[in-house]
Amino acid sequence: CGSGGGATSATSSGDDTITMGFSQVGAESGWRTANTKSVQDSAKNAGVTLKFSDAQQKQENQIKALRSFIQQKVDIIAFSPVVESGWDTVLQEAKRANIPVILTDRAVDSKDTTLYKTFLGSDFVEEGKKAGQWLVEEYKSSTDPVNIVELQGTTGSAPANDRKAGFLEVVGADPKFKIIATQTGDFTRAKGKEVMEAFLKSNPDIDVLYAHNDDMGLGAIEAIEGAGKVPGKDIKIITVDAVKDGMQALADGKINFIVECSPLLGPQLMDLAKKVLKGEQVPPRVVTEETTFTQEQAKEVLSTRQY
Ligand code: AHR
Repeated sequence: CGSGGGATSATSSGDDTITMGFSQVGAESGWRTANTKSVQDSAKNAGVTLKFSDAQQKQENQIKALRSFIQQKVDIIAFSPVVESGWDTVLQEAKRANIPVILTDRAVDSKDTTLYKTFLGSDFVEEGKKAGQWLVEEYKSSTDPVNIVELQGTTGSAPANDRKAGFLEVVGADPKFKIIATQTGDFTRAKGKEVMEAFLKSNPDIDVLYAHNDDMGLGAIEAIEGAGKVPGKDIKIITVDAVKDGMQALADGKINFIVECSPLLGPQLMDLAKKVLKGEQVPPRVVTEETTFTQEQAKEVLSTRQY
């Protein structure tokens, strides 16, 4: 904690008001918008002063934001790293300045785990496995080849790496599942549409689309309909997130299965920040609880979906 604080204060301003610097990935998806709102609302409710910075999906912007937070002597830094690698130097700078760091949503691959206090977020490998398990079950009585195309998230990001790995671990056990094309759609609707259009042109025989998030899946649905095919029937679609638009498409039968990834990390983040600044022990890893949705389940919960 900062130098100006008295014996009982954990904050650099010397009073109890916590200043948190938060570096967000960007505004690439419905998930991200909901995550930003959750962090901002929870900061307000917890009486935390939030310095919020949007990196527009660029690591260099995040590094700049972290350095600026260090210079401003915030009490604590939280950030959602756009990619996994390349953080050691700036995290060492924060450590030297005595500013604790909390990773939210996405992981870093730093070997030195003392560079951050805890990592709050989903188990993305598990999400990929759940997507794969649904597919295995769906095709359990068929021996024909199943041609899969994959829309990956942002290259080098933890959710793209892990959702791919978890999925492969499950479907890779049966050679009938063939990933015939895989490419990044950067977690955006526009890119999801563009890449799916290219997939459709070069592959006449696609059975399944696995999209690493709802937004790319929703963009792909436009491409599939544009090609005169029926999403959810001619091509089965699995996505991750379960944001409202995704759940609507699931309830409408255009998506077949969604693995939930909760963006509502704000309240837990504020609790963890307070504990860290009081010098209390926090677990090194806090995993978000989440579920999965079929089309029937989506119809049931759609009206009460928060994001
Ligand atoms: O890191 C979480 C992922 O980032 C979400 O699944 C995706 O929608 C977002 O862009």
